[in-house]
Amino acid sequence: MLTNIDKLKPLRRALPFLRPYTGRLLFALLCLTVAAIAALGMPISIRFVIDYGFSNENGQPIDVYFLALLFLSLVYALFSSLRYYTVMWIGERVVADIRSAVYKHVIRMSPTFFEVTKAGEILSRLTTDTTLVQSVVGAGVSIALRSAFVLSGGLIMLFVTSPKLSLFLFGLLPVVVLPVWIYGRKVRRLSRETQDRVADSSGIASEALNAIHIVQAFTLEDLQGHRFSDSVEQSFSAAKRRLFVSALLSGIIVLTAFSAIVIVLWTGARSVIDGSISAGVLVQFLFYATFVAGSTTAIGEVWGDVQRAAGAMERLMELLNTKPEITSATGGKAFPVNGNNRVLIENVSFNYPSRPGQLALNEFFLDIAPGETVALVGPSGAGKSTVFQLLLRFYDPRSGAILIDGTDIRDMDLQALRKRIGIVPQQTVLFADSVLENIRFGNPQAPDEAVIDAAVTAHADDFIRQLPQGYQTSLGEKGARLSGGQQQRIAIARAILKDPPILLLDEATSSLDAESENLLQQALQELMANRTVIVIAHRLATVKKVGRIIVMEQGRMVDTGTHASLTEKEGLYSRLAELQFN
Ligand SMILES: Nc1ncnc2c1ncn2[C@@H]1O[C@H](COP(=O)(O)OP(=O)(O)OP(=O)(O)O)[C@@H](O)[C@H]1O
Ligand SMILES: [Mg+2]
Repeated sequence: MLTNIDKLKPLRRALPFLRPYTGRLLFALLCLTVAAIAALGMPISIRFVIDYGFSNENGQPIDVYFLALLFLSLVYALFSSLRYYTVMWIGERVVADIRSAVYKHVIRMSPTFFEVTKAGEILSRLTTDTTLVQSVVGAGVSIALRSAFVLSGGLIMLFVTSPKLSLFLFGLLPVVVLPVWIYGRKVRRLSRETQDRVADSSGIASEALNAIHIVQAFTLEDLQGHRFSDSVEQSFSAAKRRLFVSALLSGIIVLTAFSAIVIVLWTGARSVIDGSISAGVLVQFLFYATFVAGSTTAIGEVWGDVQRAAGAMERLMELLNTKPEITSATGGKAFPVNGNNRVLIENVSFNYPSRPGQLALNEFFLDIAPGETVALVGPSGAGKSTVFQLLLRFYDPRSGAILIDGTDIRDMDLQALRKRIGIVPQQTVLFADSVLENIRFGNPQAPDEAVIDAAVTAHADDFIRQLPQGYQTSLGEKGARLSGGQQQRIAIARAILKDPPILLLDEATSSLDAESENLLQQALQELMANRTVIVIAHRLATVKKVGRIIVMEQGRMVDTGTHASLTEKEGLYSRLAELQFN
Protein backbone atom coordinates (compact mmCIF):
# COMPACT_ATOMS: atom_id res chain seq x y z
CA MET A 1 0.00 0.00 0.00
CA LEU A 2 2.79 2.38 0.94
CA THR A 3 4.59 1.80 -2.34
CA ASN A 4 1.30 2.36 -4.14
CA ILE A 5 0.95 5.71 -2.45
CA ASP A 6 4.53 6.57 -3.43
CA LYS A 7 3.68 5.92 -7.02
CA LEU A 8 1.05 8.64 -6.83
CA LYS A 9 3.56 11.34 -5.93
CA PRO A 10 3.89 12.58 -9.52
CA LEU A 11 0.25 13.60 -9.41
CA ARG A 12 1.25 16.30 -6.95
CA ARG A 13 3.05 17.91 -9.86
CA ALA A 14 -0.33 18.65 -11.36
CA LEU A 15 -1.13 20.86 -8.38
CA PRO A 16 0.47 24.03 -9.80
CA PHE A 17 -1.79 23.60 -12.81
CA LEU A 18 -4.81 23.39 -10.50
CA ARG A 19 -3.97 26.47 -8.48
CA PRO A 20 -5.56 29.02 -10.84
CA TYR A 21 -8.87 27.22 -10.42
CA THR A 22 -8.99 27.04 -6.60
CA GLY A 23 -12.33 28.87 -6.51
CA ARG A 24 -14.00 26.35 -8.79
CA LEU A 25 -12.47 23.49 -6.82
CA LEU A 26 -13.98 24.80 -3.60
CA PHE A 27 -17.33 25.18 -5.33
CA ALA A 28 -17.12 21.58 -6.57
CA LEU A 29 -16.35 20.44 -3.03
CA LEU A 30 -19.39 22.29 -1.74
CA CYS A 31 -21.65 20.68 -4.36
CA LEU A 32 -20.16 17.32 -3.51
CA THR A 33 -20.91 17.69 0.19
CA VAL A 34 -24.48 18.84 -0.35
CA ALA A 35 -25.19 16.07 -2.87
CA ALA A 36 -23.70 13.41 -0.59
CA ILE A 37 -25.73 14.57 2.40
CA ALA A 38 -28.89 14.50 0.27
CA ALA A 39 -28.09 10.99 -0.94
CA LEU A 40 -27.41 9.76 2.59
CA GLY A 41 -30.67 11.27 3.78
CA MET A 42 -32.80 9.43 1.27
CA PRO A 43 -32.84 5.97 2.95
CA ILE A 44 -34.07 7.61 6.18
CA SER A 45 -37.10 9.07 4.40
CA ILE A 46 -37.66 5.71 2.76
CA ARG A 47 -37.68 4.03 6.15
CA PHE A 48 -40.32 6.46 7.42
CA VAL A 49 -42.33 5.94 4.26
CA ILE A 50 -42.34 2.19 4.81
CA ASP A 51 -42.85 2.21 8.57
CA TYR A 52 -45.54 4.90 8.69
CA GLY A 53 -46.61 5.52 5.10
CA PHE A 54 -48.29 2.18 4.56
CA SER A 55 -50.04 2.04 7.92
CA ASN A 56 -53.43 3.65 7.41
CA GLU A 57 -53.77 5.12 10.88
CA ASN A 58 -54.06 8.66 9.58
CA GLY A 59 -53.04 10.09 6.17
CA GLN A 60 -51.12 12.97 7.77
CA PRO A 61 -47.40 11.99 7.96
CA ILE A 62 -47.20 10.16 4.63
CA ASP A 63 -47.22 13.38 2.54
CA VAL A 64 -44.41 14.86 4.58
CA TYR A 65 -42.16 11.84 4.02
CA PHE A 66 -42.83 11.66 0.31
CA LEU A 67 -42.30 15.42 -0.03
CA ALA A 68 -39.03 15.09 1.88
CA LEU A 69 -37.96 12.31 -0.46
CA LEU A 70 -38.80 14.42 -3.51
CA PHE A 71 -36.94 17.39 -2.08
CA LEU A 72 -33.84 15.27 -1.36
CA SER A 73 -33.89 13.88 -4.91
CA LEU A 74 -34.12 17.39 -6.26
CA VAL A 75 -31.19 18.62 -4.17
CA TYR A 76 -29.18 15.54 -5.09
CA ALA A 77 -29.88 15.92 -8.83
CA LEU A 78 -29.08 19.63 -8.87
CA PHE A 79 -25.85 19.46 -6.90
CA SER A 80 -24.48 16.35 -8.55
CA SER A 81 -24.95 17.93 -11.98
CA LEU A 82 -23.24 21.11 -10.78
CA ARG A 83 -20.40 19.07 -9.31
CA TYR A 84 -20.07 16.99 -12.48
CA TYR A 85 -19.90 20.08 -14.70
CA THR A 86 -17.43 21.90 -12.48
CA VAL A 87 -15.07 18.99 -11.95
CA MET A 88 -15.07 17.98 -15.60
CA TRP A 89 -14.52 21.60 -16.59
CA ILE A 90 -11.46 21.74 -14.33
CA GLY A 91 -10.18 18.49 -15.83
CA GLU A 92 -10.48 19.73 -19.40
CA ARG A 93 -9.00 23.13 -18.55
CA VAL A 94 -6.02 21.71 -16.64
CA VAL A 95 -5.20 19.25 -19.40
CA ALA A 96 -5.41 21.96 -22.05
CA ASP A 97 -2.96 23.99 -19.95
CA ILE A 98 -0.59 21.04 -19.48
CA ARG A 99 -0.68 20.24 -23.20
CA SER A 100 0.23 23.78 -24.21
CA ALA A 101 2.90 24.03 -21.56
CA VAL A 102 4.57 20.80 -22.65
CA TYR A 103 4.39 21.68 -26.35
CA LYS A 104 5.74 25.19 -25.84
CA HIS A 105 8.59 23.69 -23.87
CA VAL A 106 9.40 20.87 -26.28
CA ILE A 107 9.45 23.12 -29.32
CA ARG A 108 12.36 25.02 -27.75
CA MET A 109 14.52 21.95 -27.16
CA SER A 110 17.90 21.63 -28.88
CA PRO A 111 18.42 19.18 -31.77
CA THR A 112 20.31 16.82 -29.45
CA PHE A 113 17.06 16.17 -27.61
CA PHE A 114 15.30 15.17 -30.82
CA GLU A 115 18.14 12.87 -31.79
CA VAL A 116 17.32 10.68 -28.78
CA THR A 117 13.57 11.29 -28.46
CA LYS A 118 11.29 10.12 -31.24
CA ALA A 119 8.70 12.62 -32.43
CA GLY A 120 6.08 9.87 -32.17
CA GLU A 121 6.89 9.45 -28.50
CA ILE A 122 6.40 13.15 -27.81
CA LEU A 123 3.13 13.12 -29.71
CA SER A 124 1.91 10.16 -27.72
CA ARG A 125 2.80 11.96 -24.49
CA LEU A 126 0.93 15.03 -25.65
CA THR A 127 -2.18 13.06 -26.56
CA THR A 128 -2.38 9.75 -24.68
CA ASP A 129 -0.67 10.78 -21.46
CA THR A 130 -2.58 14.04 -21.15
CA THR A 131 -5.84 12.20 -21.81
CA LEU A 132 -5.00 9.78 -18.99
CA VAL A 133 -4.33 12.67 -16.66
CA GLN A 134 -7.57 14.23 -17.78
CA SER A 135 -9.57 11.11 -16.99
CA VAL A 136 -8.31 11.31 -13.45
CA VAL A 137 -8.34 15.04 -12.83
CA GLY A 138 -11.84 15.16 -14.25
CA ALA A 139 -13.95 12.06 -13.92
CA GLY A 140 -11.60 10.16 -11.61
CA VAL A 141 -11.35 12.76 -8.88
CA SER A 142 -15.06 13.38 -9.16
CA ILE A 143 -15.94 9.72 -8.71
CA ALA A 144 -13.32 9.11 -6.04
CA LEU A 145 -14.38 12.07 -3.92
CA ARG A 146 -18.06 11.29 -4.20
CA SER A 147 -17.46 7.63 -3.43
CA ALA A 148 -15.21 8.39 -0.48
CA PHE A 149 -17.90 10.69 0.94
CA VAL A 150 -20.70 8.23 0.40
CA LEU A 151 -18.57 5.34 1.61
CA SER A 152 -17.65 6.92 4.94
CA GLY A 153 -21.12 8.38 5.43
CA GLY A 154 -22.71 5.07 4.45
CA LEU A 155 -20.51 3.11 6.88
CA ILE A 156 -21.44 5.36 9.76
CA MET A 157 -25.12 5.17 8.84
CA LEU A 158 -24.94 1.37 8.60
CA PHE A 159 -23.81 1.10 12.20
CA VAL A 160 -26.28 3.75 13.31
CA THR A 161 -29.13 1.86 11.60
CA SER A 162 -28.32 -1.59 12.92
CA PRO A 163 -25.05 -2.48 14.65
CA LYS A 164 -25.96 -6.16 14.71
CA LEU A 165 -26.58 -6.45 10.95
CA SER A 166 -23.48 -4.33 10.26
CA LEU A 167 -21.22 -6.67 12.16
CA PHE A 168 -22.78 -9.57 10.32
CA LEU A 169 -22.23 -7.84 6.96
CA PHE A 170 -18.59 -7.14 7.69
CA GLY A 171 -18.07 -10.74 8.59
CA LEU A 172 -19.10 -11.62 5.04
CA LEU A 173 -17.12 -8.82 3.39
CA PRO A 174 -13.82 -10.68 2.81
CA VAL A 175 -15.67 -13.26 0.72
CA VAL A 176 -16.72 -10.51 -1.70
CA VAL A 177 -13.62 -8.34 -1.58
CA LEU A 178 -10.96 -11.02 -1.90
CA PRO A 179 -11.73 -12.14 -5.48
CA VAL A 180 -12.04 -8.50 -6.57
CA TRP A 181 -8.65 -7.80 -5.06
CA ILE A 182 -6.97 -10.76 -6.74
CA TYR A 183 -8.60 -10.64 -10.15
CA GLY A 184 -8.83 -6.86 -10.31
CA ARG A 185 -5.04 -6.57 -10.46
CA LYS A 186 -4.92 -9.17 -13.17
CA VAL A 187 -7.50 -7.27 -15.22
CA ARG A 188 -5.51 -4.08 -14.87
CA ARG A 189 -2.28 -5.76 -15.93
CA LEU A 190 -3.99 -7.25 -18.95
CA SER A 191 -5.63 -3.97 -19.96
CA ARG A 192 -2.24 -2.31 -19.75
CA GLU A 193 -0.92 -5.04 -22.03
CA THR A 194 -3.70 -4.49 -24.54
CA GLN A 195 -2.85 -0.80 -24.68
CA ASP A 196 0.82 -1.48 -25.19
CA ARG A 197 0.03 -3.85 -28.06
CA VAL A 198 -2.24 -1.23 -29.65
CA ALA A 199 0.57 1.31 -29.38
CA ASP A 200 2.93 -1.19 -31.02
CA SER A 201 0.67 -1.65 -34.00
CA SER A 202 0.18 2.08 -34.51
CA GLY A 203 3.95 2.46 -34.33
CA ILE A 204 4.35 -0.15 -37.07
CA ALA A 205 1.66 1.47 -39.21
CA SER A 206 2.95 5.03 -38.90
CA GLU A 207 6.48 3.96 -39.76
CA ALA A 208 5.31 2.33 -42.98
CA LEU A 209 2.81 5.06 -43.88
CA ASN A 210 5.49 7.72 -43.52
CA ALA A 211 7.64 5.88 -46.02
CA ILE A 212 4.89 4.62 -48.30
CA HIS A 213 6.92 5.30 -51.47
CA ILE A 214 9.79 3.17 -50.26
CA VAL A 215 7.44 0.43 -49.09
CA GLN A 216 5.83 0.25 -52.51
CA ALA A 217 9.03 0.67 -54.51
CA PHE A 218 10.59 -2.28 -52.70
CA THR A 219 7.24 -4.15 -52.88
CA LEU A 220 7.14 -4.54 -49.14
CA GLU A 221 3.33 -4.26 -48.96
CA ASP A 222 2.80 -7.91 -48.03
CA LEU A 223 5.58 -7.89 -45.47
CA GLN A 224 4.33 -4.67 -43.87
CA GLY A 225 0.75 -5.92 -44.02
CA HIS A 226 1.74 -9.07 -42.15
CA ARG A 227 3.75 -7.16 -39.58
CA PHE A 228 0.74 -5.01 -38.90
CA SER A 229 -1.81 -7.82 -38.75
CA ASP A 230 0.50 -9.85 -36.51
CA SER A 231 0.59 -7.06 -33.99
CA VAL A 232 -3.15 -6.46 -34.33
CA GLU A 233 -3.67 -10.16 -33.56
CA GLN A 234 -1.47 -9.82 -30.51
CA SER A 235 -3.57 -6.98 -29.19
CA PHE A 236 -6.67 -9.05 -29.91
CA SER A 237 -5.43 -12.01 -27.90
CA ALA A 238 -4.38 -9.72 -25.05
CA ALA A 239 -7.90 -8.25 -25.15
CA LYS A 240 -9.37 -11.75 -25.22
CA ARG A 241 -7.46 -12.73 -22.08
CA ARG A 242 -8.60 -9.57 -20.38
CA LEU A 243 -12.24 -10.18 -21.35
CA PHE A 244 -12.11 -13.71 -20.02
CA VAL A 245 -10.75 -12.62 -16.65
CA SER A 246 -13.24 -9.72 -16.52
CA ALA A 247 -16.17 -12.01 -17.27
CA LEU A 248 -15.00 -14.50 -14.65
CA LEU A 249 -14.54 -11.70 -12.16
CA SER A 250 -17.98 -10.21 -12.68
CA GLY A 251 -19.51 -13.67 -12.39
CA ILE A 252 -17.78 -14.22 -9.07
CA ILE A 253 -18.74 -10.76 -7.85
CA VAL A 254 -22.40 -11.23 -8.74
CA LEU A 255 -22.47 -14.63 -7.06
CA THR A 256 -20.76 -13.61 -3.82
CA ALA A 257 -22.46 -10.24 -3.60
CA PHE A 258 -25.92 -11.66 -4.12
CA SER A 259 -25.28 -14.49 -1.67
CA ALA A 260 -24.12 -11.96 0.90
CA ILE A 261 -27.20 -9.82 0.30
CA VAL A 262 -29.49 -12.83 0.55
CA ILE A 263 -27.87 -13.93 3.81
CA VAL A 264 -28.07 -10.44 5.34
CA LEU A 265 -31.64 -10.06 4.13
CA TRP A 266 -32.49 -13.42 5.60
CA THR A 267 -31.02 -12.53 8.97
CA GLY A 268 -32.67 -9.14 8.76
CA ALA A 269 -36.06 -10.65 7.93
CA ARG A 270 -35.82 -12.91 10.98
CA SER A 271 -35.04 -9.88 13.14
CA VAL A 272 -38.10 -8.12 11.69
CA ILE A 273 -40.23 -11.20 12.50
CA ASP A 274 -38.97 -11.46 16.08
CA GLY A 275 -39.63 -7.74 16.40
CA SER A 276 -36.08 -6.52 17.18
CA ILE A 277 -36.10 -4.15 14.14
CA SER A 278 -38.82 -2.67 11.94
CA ALA A 279 -39.20 -3.39 8.20
CA GLY A 280 -38.28 0.20 7.47
CA VAL A 281 -35.00 -0.15 9.32
CA LEU A 282 -34.15 -3.24 7.29
CA VAL A 283 -34.82 -1.42 4.01
CA GLN A 284 -32.82 1.57 5.20
CA PHE A 285 -29.97 -0.75 6.08
CA LEU A 286 -30.06 -2.41 2.67
CA PHE A 287 -29.91 0.97 0.96
CA TYR A 288 -26.83 1.99 2.91
CA ALA A 289 -25.28 -1.38 2.20
CA THR A 290 -25.82 -0.77 -1.53
CA PHE A 291 -24.27 2.68 -1.21
CA VAL A 292 -21.23 1.25 0.53
CA ALA A 293 -20.83 -1.56 -1.98
CA GLY A 294 -21.32 0.78 -4.95
CA SER A 295 -18.77 3.32 -3.77
CA THR A 296 -16.24 0.63 -2.88
CA THR A 297 -16.45 -0.74 -6.42
CA ALA A 298 -16.21 2.77 -7.89
CA ILE A 299 -13.09 3.55 -5.86
CA GLY A 300 -11.57 0.25 -6.95
CA GLU A 301 -12.18 1.10 -10.57
CA VAL A 302 -10.82 4.62 -10.29
CA TRP A 303 -7.77 3.47 -8.36
CA GLY A 304 -6.34 1.81 -11.47
CA ASP A 305 -6.91 4.97 -13.50
CA VAL A 306 -5.25 7.04 -10.81
CA GLN A 307 -2.18 4.85 -10.91
CA ARG A 308 -1.94 5.03 -14.68
CA ALA A 309 -2.44 8.79 -14.57
CA ALA A 310 0.37 9.08 -12.05
CA GLY A 311 2.65 7.31 -14.51
CA ALA A 312 1.49 9.56 -17.32
CA MET A 313 2.01 12.68 -15.24
CA GLU A 314 5.51 11.52 -14.41
CA ARG A 315 6.36 11.17 -18.09
CA LEU A 316 4.88 14.58 -18.87
CA MET A 317 6.79 16.26 -16.06
CA GLU A 318 10.00 14.57 -17.17
CA LEU A 319 9.45 16.22 -20.52
CA LEU A 320 8.64 19.56 -18.94
CA ASN A 321 11.73 19.46 -16.76
CA THR A 322 14.26 18.65 -19.47
CA LYS A 323 16.35 21.72 -20.00
CA PRO A 324 17.40 22.68 -23.52
CA GLU A 325 21.17 22.40 -23.86
CA ILE A 326 21.40 25.60 -25.81
CA THR A 327 19.95 28.49 -23.88
CA SER A 328 19.71 32.13 -24.75
CA ALA A 329 22.15 34.36 -22.91
CA THR A 330 20.35 36.49 -20.38
CA GLY A 331 21.70 39.84 -19.33
CA GLY A 332 24.77 39.19 -21.44
CA LYS A 333 26.44 41.63 -23.76
CA ALA A 334 24.26 43.87 -25.82
CA PHE A 335 23.49 42.44 -29.21
CA PRO A 336 25.09 44.55 -31.95
CA VAL A 337 21.95 45.41 -33.90
CA ASN A 338 23.53 47.54 -36.56
CA GLY A 339 26.73 45.60 -36.85
CA ASN A 340 28.30 44.98 -40.24
CA ASN A 341 28.02 41.19 -39.91
CA ARG A 342 31.57 40.06 -39.84
CA VAL A 343 31.65 36.35 -39.08
CA LEU A 344 34.65 34.87 -37.35
CA ILE A 345 34.91 31.13 -36.73
CA GLU A 346 37.85 30.86 -34.43
CA ASN A 347 39.61 27.48 -34.21
CA VAL A 348 36.41 25.59 -33.64
CA SER A 349 36.52 21.90 -32.77
CA PHE A 350 33.25 20.07 -32.49
CA ASN A 351 31.86 16.58 -32.27
CA TYR A 352 28.17 15.67 -32.37
CA PRO A 353 26.99 14.52 -28.93
CA SER A 354 26.11 11.09 -30.34
CA ARG A 355 29.65 10.65 -31.77
CA PRO A 356 31.99 11.45 -28.89
CA GLY A 357 35.10 10.13 -30.59
CA GLN A 358 34.71 11.73 -33.99
CA LEU A 359 35.51 15.38 -34.67
CA ALA A 360 33.13 16.82 -37.26
CA LEU A 361 35.14 20.05 -37.16
CA ASN A 362 38.80 20.15 -36.22
CA GLU A 363 40.46 23.47 -35.37
CA PHE A 364 38.40 25.07 -38.10
CA PHE A 365 39.19 28.74 -38.74
CA LEU A 366 37.33 31.09 -41.04
CA ASP A 367 37.16 34.87 -41.09
CA ILE A 368 34.51 36.35 -43.36
CA ALA A 369 34.57 40.08 -44.01
CA PRO A 370 31.32 42.06 -43.98
CA GLY A 371 29.50 41.62 -47.29
CA GLU A 372 31.88 38.91 -48.49
CA THR A 373 30.77 35.68 -50.14
CA VAL A 374 32.69 32.54 -49.26
CA ALA A 375 32.21 29.03 -50.66
CA LEU A 376 32.75 25.77 -48.78
CA VAL A 377 33.56 22.76 -50.93
CA GLY A 378 34.80 19.30 -50.11
CA PRO A 379 33.79 15.67 -50.09
CA SER A 380 30.64 14.37 -48.47
CA GLY A 381 30.94 14.28 -44.69
CA ALA A 382 33.69 16.91 -44.64
CA GLY A 383 31.77 19.03 -42.12
CA LYS A 384 30.33 21.71 -44.36
CA SER A 385 26.73 21.53 -43.12
CA THR A 386 28.09 21.27 -39.58
CA VAL A 387 29.52 24.80 -39.92
CA PHE A 388 25.96 26.04 -40.58
CA GLN A 389 24.56 24.09 -37.62
CA LEU A 390 27.06 25.79 -35.33
CA LEU A 391 26.44 29.24 -36.81
CA LEU A 392 22.73 28.82 -36.06
CA ARG A 393 23.75 27.62 -32.60
CA PHE A 394 21.99 24.30 -32.71
CA TYR A 395 25.09 23.07 -30.94
CA ASP A 396 27.96 24.79 -29.14
CA PRO A 397 31.58 24.13 -30.15
CA ARG A 398 33.70 21.96 -27.89
CA SER A 399 36.54 24.43 -28.13
CA GLY A 400 37.06 27.68 -29.96
CA ALA A 401 34.35 30.25 -30.56
CA ILE A 402 32.12 31.78 -33.18
CA LEU A 403 31.93 35.57 -33.17
CA ILE A 404 29.66 37.91 -35.07
CA ASP A 405 30.88 41.50 -35.04
CA GLY A 406 33.21 40.57 -32.22
CA THR A 407 30.53 39.09 -29.95
CA ASP A 408 30.58 35.40 -29.08
CA ILE A 409 27.25 33.99 -30.26
CA ARG A 410 26.95 32.21 -26.90
CA ASP A 411 26.58 35.66 -25.35
CA MET A 412 23.80 36.67 -27.70
CA ASP A 413 20.09 36.38 -27.51
CA LEU A 414 19.35 33.15 -29.35
CA GLN A 415 16.29 34.39 -31.21
CA ALA A 416 17.99 37.61 -32.21
CA LEU A 417 20.91 35.60 -33.60
CA ARG A 418 18.67 33.33 -35.63
CA LYS A 419 16.55 36.22 -36.88
CA ARG A 420 19.71 37.61 -38.42
CA ILE A 421 20.61 34.45 -40.31
CA GLY A 422 18.79 33.08 -43.33
CA ILE A 423 19.34 29.51 -44.45
CA VAL A 424 18.42 27.46 -47.46
CA PRO A 425 19.02 24.01 -46.03
CA GLN A 426 20.32 20.94 -47.80
CA GLN A 427 16.98 19.24 -47.28
CA THR A 428 14.04 21.46 -48.01
CA VAL A 429 11.39 21.45 -45.33
CA LEU A 430 7.87 22.39 -46.36
CA PHE A 431 4.71 22.38 -44.29
CA ALA A 432 1.27 21.03 -45.13
CA ASP A 433 0.04 24.51 -45.99
CA SER A 434 -0.43 26.68 -49.08
CA VAL A 435 2.49 27.84 -51.22
CA LEU A 436 1.89 31.39 -50.07
CA GLU A 437 2.11 30.49 -46.38
CA ASN A 438 5.11 28.25 -46.94
CA ILE A 439 7.08 31.16 -48.37
CA ARG A 440 5.72 33.50 -45.71
CA PHE A 441 7.42 31.39 -43.02
CA GLY A 442 10.49 33.44 -43.97
CA ASN A 443 8.78 36.51 -42.55
CA PRO A 444 5.35 35.93 -41.02
CA GLN A 445 4.55 39.67 -41.13
CA ALA A 446 5.15 40.05 -44.86
CA PRO A 447 2.19 41.11 -47.04
CA ASP A 448 1.10 38.93 -49.99
CA GLU A 449 2.81 41.21 -52.54
CA ALA A 450 6.18 40.81 -50.83
CA VAL A 451 5.73 37.03 -50.80
CA ILE A 452 5.01 37.02 -54.53
CA ASP A 453 7.99 39.31 -55.22
CA ALA A 454 10.22 36.86 -53.38
CA ALA A 455 8.83 33.99 -55.45
CA VAL A 456 9.52 35.93 -58.65
CA THR A 457 13.12 36.54 -57.59
CA ALA A 458 13.51 32.83 -56.79
CA HIS A 459 12.18 31.93 -60.26
CA ALA A 460 9.32 30.12 -58.60
CA ASP A 461 6.49 32.36 -59.74
CA ASP A 462 6.05 30.64 -63.12
CA PHE A 463 5.54 27.15 -61.83
CA ILE A 464 3.48 28.33 -58.86
CA ARG A 465 1.01 30.04 -61.19
CA GLN A 466 0.64 26.78 -63.09
CA LEU A 467 -0.41 24.91 -59.95
CA PRO A 468 -4.16 24.17 -59.71
CA GLN A 469 -4.90 26.95 -57.21
CA GLY A 470 -1.79 29.04 -57.82
CA TYR A 471 -0.40 30.49 -54.61
CA GLN A 472 -3.25 28.96 -52.60
CA THR A 473 -2.36 25.40 -53.63
CA SER A 474 -1.82 23.20 -50.61
CA LEU A 475 1.51 21.39 -50.68
CA GLY A 476 0.51 18.28 -48.75
CA GLU A 477 2.55 16.83 -45.96
CA LYS A 478 6.29 17.55 -46.31
CA GLY A 479 5.59 19.27 -49.63
CA ALA A 480 4.95 15.90 -51.26
CA ARG A 481 3.16 17.51 -54.22
CA LEU A 482 6.21 19.35 -55.61
CA SER A 483 9.31 18.24 -57.46
CA GLY A 484 12.68 18.48 -55.72
CA GLY A 485 13.74 21.52 -57.72
CA GLN A 486 10.42 23.25 -57.11
CA GLN A 487 10.71 22.62 -53.39
CA GLN A 488 14.17 24.13 -53.43
CA ARG A 489 12.95 27.29 -55.12
CA ILE A 490 10.26 27.70 -52.46
CA ALA A 491 13.00 27.45 -49.82
CA ILE A 492 15.04 30.09 -51.65
CA ALA A 493 12.01 32.38 -51.92
CA ARG A 494 11.57 31.95 -48.17
CA ALA A 495 15.16 33.07 -47.53
CA ILE A 496 14.75 36.00 -49.93
CA LEU A 497 11.63 37.10 -48.07
CA LYS A 498 13.45 36.91 -44.74
CA ASP A 499 16.04 39.29 -46.17
CA PRO A 500 18.72 38.40 -43.60
CA PRO A 501 22.07 40.16 -43.31
CA ILE A 502 23.80 36.77 -43.11
CA LEU A 503 22.83 34.13 -45.65
CA LEU A 504 23.70 30.44 -45.63
CA LEU A 505 23.10 28.41 -48.77
CA ASP A 506 23.55 24.65 -48.41
CA GLU A 507 23.38 23.10 -51.87
CA ALA A 508 20.59 25.57 -52.56
CA THR A 509 20.42 24.84 -56.27
CA SER A 510 21.52 21.21 -56.36
CA SER A 511 18.16 19.85 -57.55
CA LEU A 512 17.77 22.24 -60.46
CA ASP A 513 18.46 21.62 -64.13
CA ALA A 514 21.38 23.54 -65.63
CA GLU A 515 19.18 26.19 -67.23
CA SER A 516 17.08 26.98 -64.14
CA GLU A 517 20.22 26.92 -62.02
CA ASN A 518 21.88 29.44 -64.30
CA LEU A 519 18.89 31.77 -64.09
CA LEU A 520 18.67 31.37 -60.35
CA GLN A 521 22.40 31.95 -59.90
CA GLN A 522 21.95 35.39 -61.42
CA ALA A 523 19.12 36.10 -59.01
CA LEU A 524 21.22 34.83 -56.12
CA GLN A 525 24.10 37.09 -57.19
CA GLU A 526 21.80 40.05 -56.60
CA LEU A 527 20.71 38.59 -53.29
CA MET A 528 24.29 38.06 -52.15
CA ALA A 529 25.31 41.64 -52.74
CA ASN A 530 25.67 43.57 -49.47
CA ARG A 531 25.30 40.46 -47.35
CA THR A 532 27.67 38.10 -45.64
CA VAL A 533 27.14 34.82 -47.47
CA ILE A 534 28.43 31.27 -47.12
CA VAL A 535 27.67 28.93 -50.00
CA ILE A 536 28.07 25.17 -49.90
CA ALA A 537 28.21 23.45 -53.26
CA HIS A 538 29.21 20.13 -54.73
CA ARG A 539 28.93 21.37 -58.29
CA LEU A 540 32.02 23.52 -58.59
CA ALA A 541 30.51 25.38 -61.54
CA THR A 542 28.23 27.15 -59.09
CA VAL A 543 31.11 28.54 -57.04
CA LYS A 544 33.48 29.39 -59.86
CA LYS A 545 32.80 33.11 -59.53
CA VAL A 546 32.98 33.20 -55.74
CA GLY A 547 35.88 35.34 -54.53
CA ARG A 548 37.16 32.90 -51.92
CA ILE A 549 36.76 29.13 -51.87
CA ILE A 550 37.50 27.09 -48.74
CA VAL A 551 38.35 23.43 -49.38
CA MET A 552 37.36 21.21 -46.46
CA GLU A 553 38.24 17.64 -45.64
CA GLN A 554 37.49 15.76 -42.42
CA GLY A 555 36.53 18.86 -40.53
CA ARG A 556 39.61 20.87 -41.47
CA MET A 557 40.32 23.60 -43.93
CA VAL A 558 42.86 22.04 -46.31
CA ASP A 559 43.16 24.80 -48.88
CA THR A 560 41.82 28.20 -49.81
CA GLY A 561 41.90 30.47 -52.84
CA THR A 562 40.00 31.39 -55.98
CA HIS A 563 38.82 28.85 -58.53
CA ALA A 564 41.75 29.84 -60.76
CA SER A 565 44.43 29.67 -58.07
CA LEU A 566 43.12 26.37 -56.68
CA THR A 567 42.94 24.61 -60.05
CA GLU A 568 46.53 25.50 -60.69
CA LYS A 569 47.70 23.75 -57.54
CA GLU A 570 47.95 20.00 -57.17
CA GLY A 571 45.39 19.15 -54.50
CA LEU A 572 41.90 18.06 -53.54
CA TYR A 573 40.25 20.93 -55.39
CA SER A 574 42.02 20.39 -58.70
CA ARG A 575 41.23 16.67 -58.53
CA LEU A 576 37.53 17.43 -57.91
CA ALA A 577 37.56 20.09 -60.63
CA GLU A 578 39.16 17.74 -63.12
CA LEU A 579 36.52 15.07 -62.47
CA GLN A 580 33.69 17.56 -62.88
CA PHE A 581 34.87 19.67 -65.79
CA ASN A 582 36.55 17.09 -67.99
N1 LIG B 1 23.23 14.91 -36.21
C1 LIG B 1 24.40 14.26 -36.34
N2 LIG B 1 24.79 13.41 -35.38
C2 LIG B 1 25.96 12.75 -35.49
N3 LIG B 1 26.81 12.89 -36.50
C3 LIG B 1 26.48 13.73 -37.49
C4 LIG B 1 25.24 14.46 -37.46
N4 LIG B 1 25.18 15.20 -38.58
C5 LIG B 1 26.30 14.95 -39.27
N5 LIG B 1 27.10 14.07 -38.62
C6 LIG B 1 28.43 13.59 -39.03
O1 LIG B 1 29.31 14.69 -39.06
C7 LIG B 1 30.16 14.64 -40.19
C8 LIG B 1 30.05 15.92 -41.00
O2 LIG B 1 28.74 16.01 -41.51
P1 LIG B 1 28.24 17.21 -42.40
O3 LIG B 1 26.78 17.08 -42.52
O4 LIG B 1 28.79 18.48 -41.89
O5 LIG B 1 28.92 16.85 -43.81
P2 LIG B 1 28.84 17.66 -45.16
O6 LIG B 1 30.19 18.16 -45.43
O7 LIG B 1 27.74 18.62 -45.12
O8 LIG B 1 28.50 16.48 -46.18
P3 LIG B 1 27.53 16.49 -47.46
O9 LIG B 1 28.29 17.14 -48.54
O10 LIG B 1 27.30 15.05 -47.74
O11 LIG B 1 26.31 17.21 -47.07
C9 LIG B 1 29.77 13.40 -40.95
O12 LIG B 1 30.70 12.38 -40.64
C10 LIG B 1 28.40 13.03 -40.42
O13 LIG B 1 28.22 11.63 -40.39
MG1 LIG C 1 25.89 18.71 -45.92
